[in-house]
Amino acid sequence: MKITVSYGLYAYFRTRMPQDFVKIARRGELLPGKMKRVDLDGRRILLANVDGKFYAADDTCTHEDASLSTGFLKDDIVKCPLHGSRFNLCSGQVLDDPAEENLRTYPVRLDGDDILIGLT
Ligand code: FES
Repeated sequence: MKITVSYGLYAYFRTRMPQDFVKIARRGELLPGKMKRVDLDGRRILLANVDGKFYAADDTCTHEDASLSTGFLKDDIVKCPLHGSRFNLCSGQVLDDPAEENLRTYPVRLDGDDILIGLT
């Protein structure tokens, strides 16, 4: 028997499933306006500090294999260093060609000086 779940239904349940929050960095490691890549459980995560607010997303561009953490950050928008697609780090939405797929983002929590991200 094959069970098919629509992406909308999957996304609905994914956002409502309990998540494990894991430590990814400490606040002092990342100054405002800076980004860095963190390797975590086989994933490459982009962590960005935008005016003291932290954002986490996949570090690999959805177009080709470029590390977004080596790109450019302006407000909550990251620009790919290879072909220039821009992504909104809050929503993951792709803003420019040539990338067509949105970026996966992760919820971020602070626990004292620790930065935690939610993984499902
Ligand atoms: S690799 Fe990022 S836009 Fe091409």
